[in-house]
Amino acid sequence: MKTINVNVKEVLGTVTAEQIQALNPAAAEGLEKLHKGTGLGSDFLGWVNLPEETPDGLVAEIEASAKVLRESCDYVVAIGIGGSYLGAKAVIEALSDSFSMLRSDDARRCRVLFAGQNIGEDYLNELQDLLRDKKFGIIVISKSGTTTEPAIAFRLLKEQLESQLGKAEASKRIVAITDEHKGALRQLATEEGYKTFVIADNVGGRFSVLTPVGLLPIAVAGFDIRALLDGARRMQKATVAANDENPSLLYATTRNALYRAGKKIEILVNYNPKLHFFGEWWKQLYGESEGKDHKGIFPAAVDNSTDLHSMGQWIQEGERTIFETVLSVESAQHTTVIPSDEANLDGLNYLAGKRVDAVNKMAELGTRIAHVDGGVPNMRITIPALKEEYLGELIYFFEKACGISGYLLDVNPFNQPGVEAYKRNMFALLEKPGYEAETAAIKARL
Ligand code: PA5
Repeated sequence: MKTINVNVKEVLGTVTAEQIQALNPAAAEGLEKLHKGTGLGSDFLGWVNLPEETPDGLVAEIEASAKVLRESCDYVVAIGIGGSYLGAKAVIEALSDSFSMLRSDDARRCRVLFAGQNIGEDYLNELQDLLRDKKFGIIVISKSGTTTEPAIAFRLLKEQLESQLGKAEASKRIVAITDEHKGALRQLATEEGYKTFVIADNVGGRFSVLTPVGLLPIAVAGFDIRALLDGARRMQKATVAANDENPSLLYATTRNALYRAGKKIEILVNYNPKLHFFGEWWKQLYGESEGKDHKGIFPAAVDNSTDLHSMGQWIQEGERTIFETVLSVESAQHTTVIPSDEANLDGLNYLAGKRVDAVNKMAELGTRIAHVDGGVPNMRITIPALKEEYLGELIYFFEKACGISGYLLDVNPFNQPGVEAYKRNMFALLEKPGYEAETAAIKARL
């Protein structure tokens, strides 16, 4: 059976196999903490067994809800930020037709839009303009129910939907995904009678893509959430044992061996534009999990070959504190062959008859050799194809590795205390009730 594969051969010029293996006992301990709930942040381990434990009834309920939204709406706006946004966005982008928003044929059209992931006035204004007199629905996703960005977007779009349809009809097109009992969104959903799904207390935002948070928007976009979960389930099984066959363990130990050897920045590299948002999701997962106590590998991402023409110089010859993890997709979904041209003014006839993907693969291989030669260790994660089951594997693979890696760094991988600092300042500057002292203090600094 095809599956994702991790290859660490091209890091061995920087760290030895022995240096990587020396981290195996600590990684095995980290793995055990994840399984037994004995490590830091153990209140947030609900994601560990989630693929195996997701009841079929919940999947069916998500599919039914997605069907209602698909049938009644031209557009569905998924409102959320951070972990309540990036997973769904990453999977939908990876699986969608590159021009899905411009397609009129239903099979290739994606109807999911996103809001609440920024506070751009123009973004929201233009979105409202697009939705004027259109049939649209809302999936509002917030674990806390009080995050400012999604709350503003929801207030605007809810008002618009209600004025277009009336309150009663509008409430049939709003689905809320939030805490089971507490929070402003739970209270509103109960009062207005919205369809709801629960984000479990023990699953943090950045680990929530395989809960309704990710699964509902992905299903609305027309993708197979059962296959996604099947892939995750396979990876759950493959990452139980602390042995050489555990890909998450290998990735976690290798990146930590590199970190200890002075490689402080990891660049996640793709050669497929559909993976851009997978890089964004991965950045949140690793950045929020590891960047604390003044420690942590800085997660960056590039989209090649595009970024070889912007960041390529730095990666090839800049400060040698980086390593790369390349996401390599084995097979393209479509076939496009480069044509021959009689005049051959561009000199491309030597490629005539070759697939575009074959050229892309040589760009990838040539870059890997150049970067390794230039002192940039490379790990490679091969994905058979951009399909639901392999994305499910990849998501769980990275989540499990992130937990192990956080414990190797000796941080709590499941909290994010640093995210609050900007919020406190923003509320003080906006003169939010309850922040009077902070407002006075911050204004004195301006
Ligand atoms: O990982 C996290 O927990 C955060 O990034 C949250 O996902 C993000 O801040 C959104 O929070 P909420 O879902 O409570 O609105």
